[in-house]
Amino acid sequence: MIKKASFLISNTDYKKCPAPTKPEFAFIGRSNVGKSSLVNMLTGNKNLAKTSGKPGKTQLINHFMIDDNWFMVDLPGYGFAKVSKSIKNTWEKMISDYLTNRDNLVALCVLIDSRLDPQKIDLEFITWCGQHEIPFILVFTKSDKQGKSKTFANVAKFLEAAREIFGEDPQYFITSAQTTDGKEELINFIEAEVQE
Ligand code: GTP
Ligand code: MG
Repeated sequence: MIKKASFLISNTDYKKCPAPTKPEFAFIGRSNVGKSSLVNMLTGNKNLAKTSGKPGKTQLINHFMIDDNWFMVDLPGYGFAKVSKSIKNTWEKMISDYLTNRDNLVALCVLIDSRLDPQKIDLEFITWCGQHEIPFILVFTKSDKQGKSKTFANVAKFLEAAREIFGEDPQYFITSAQTTDGKEELINFIEAEVQE
């Protein structure tokens, strides 16, 4: 369980992020997939990260201190069509620099919308993670939006596509920011990693 969570700092440059003295877990995924909502759900604080019905809300690397023990990071989304090419390139460089240089990153949580069939952009992104040896897990979001069987079917399809890329299933969690489904499982996973 998370007992204490506070906002630390927002950055555009990984070099200005807090000293990498604690294990770090970051959230990424398509714009609007529910990254900031997941921060709030896991910490039990609806106002910690800013969320929005419109994609493109989070635009910086946002660090949160959890239980004085580890960093949670809310990142901007990828695949947001409504920004200019130059802004998109700046964001992509900011995120890829962060992901490839942040030495204390224990696991990148790649959020996947559980309502959808496997999306090309998500598969391309996890392929990129594999190529850059970035340790990632999958977090399926918005499971409250449809019945369990639909969620499981979409998860199975995504895992099958991931297996074709990696030869094995990535670790995954199924969550809802609305019902808090998956909260305990994901926090337990992170806390076990922090202990190591
Ligand atoms: P960007 O910062 O723009 O990249 O988006 P984000 O991935 O941080 O998404 P955000 O958390 O802002 O959520 C986007 C929208 O989805 C908001 O309207 C949320 O209320 C909604 N949402 C997020 N998670 C869930 C969920 O688990 N269930 C439901 N029903 N809605 C969700
Ligand atoms: Mg956000």
